[in-house]
Amino acid sequence: MKNIRLFQPSLGSKELNSIKKVFKKSWIGYGEEVKKFEKEWSKTFKVKHSIAVNSCTAALHLSLLCNDFKKGKKVLVPAITFSATAAAVLYCGLIPVFVDINNNDLNMNVDDLKKKYTKDCVAVMPVHFGGHPCEMDKIMRWANEKDLIVIEDCAETCGGYYKGKKIGTWGHYGCFSFEEKKMMTTGDGGMIITNNSTKAKKIKSLSFHGWDKDPLLRHKQRYLNNTKKIKKNLHWYYEISLLGYKYNMNDLEASIGREQLKKLPFLNNSRIKFLKKYLSNLKKCKNLSPTFPYNLKKSSYWMFSIRSKNRDKLISFLKKNNISTSVHLMPLPLHPLYKKYKSKIPTALRVWKELVTLPLHPHLKEKEINYINTKLRKFSLENN
Ligand SMILES: Cc1ncc(COP(=O)(O)O)c(C=O)c1O
Repeated sequence: MKNIRLFQPSLGSKELNSIKKVFKKSWIGYGEEVKKFEKEWSKTFKVKHSIAVNSCTAALHLSLLCNDFKKGKKVLVPAITFSATAAAVLYCGLIPVFVDINNNDLNMNVDDLKKKYTKDCVAVMPVHFGGHPCEMDKIMRWANEKDLIVIEDCAETCGGYYKGKKIGTWGHYGCFSFEEKKMMTTGDGGMIITNNSTKAKKIKSLSFHGWDKDPLLRHKQRYLNNTKKIKKNLHWYYEISLLGYKYNMNDLEASIGREQLKKLPFLNNSRIKFLKKYLSNLKKCKNLSPTFPYNLKKSSYWMFSIRSKNRDKLISFLKKNNISTSVHLMPLPLHPLYKKYKSKIPTALRVWKELVTLPLHPHLKEKEINYINTKLRKFSLENN
């Protein structure tokens, strides 16, 4: 068996043709494709505003930044998440407060969230880790009582539901990732959704140097004859009142994203199909268990992760058998940068040592899944 990849993007002729069209137009930067992608995204997620950016990291940064929180205020983030969640807090001059996770699903523990809250807290960033939804009903009820802004980090999920409502539409902001390994991809990219029109306008401006004018609109105005709106020859004019960033998406990425969005149900369903096979096999493996209580109905899981008390031995065994693995993730306060923000997170510190991520992507072959499952059973028997 050749090496089985952990993740793989699912791209085809539709995406290639969409790029060709953009090439032909000879307009590859920020343009009509981005506008269309944003519009289609808003329609899919039934939200007022979608702002396409160049990563989920940028999306998280701008969702926090647009609130102008006073420097030194605190933001509640889970102890186990990708570094970008906490980095966004630091970018804004704020302080991350690490909340412990649930033992059963690795998501933010709501009791600990309440415990870690102090009057200095201004926002909470629930992360739907591996695609498993956070308890958004409880989090929103409590956050609204405390007047906290809620930014959902949806980098590891896209199109799934929690209690009948799309993940990403529970909070004040939802941030998505289109990095190459994610549910759908644009190479790199991200999206912010919100129903707050004032903040959406500000985020748009912050994503393009802080301009007060949409750069595409400015371009179009160049070709308009004088109207009352555009004073003679002032189509080029814009003002900068905000310190913005170069975080916008471009038309090449957006054209891929538009095709991937159409495929999203297929991409999610492919993962569900493989997860079913993995989960039914795990029942036969003593001492191995699924990391999440996978609820596959209307789900969007990015990751297949299992727990083993013999984690490192399992990783070596799978490596010898050409099966890629990884560990998602070491608690952030264990990294040198985040050490000084350490807090009591006993569950995170215990559970992460058992985690192993196994291959999951839409292009896995039936025979590859069967092969991995056979090896898992073998390991389980030999290490019982
Ligand atoms: C939970 C989480 N948040 C944020 C990010 C950052 O996403 P991006 O690579 O699009 O910046 C990732 C990426 O892996 C992630 O897993």
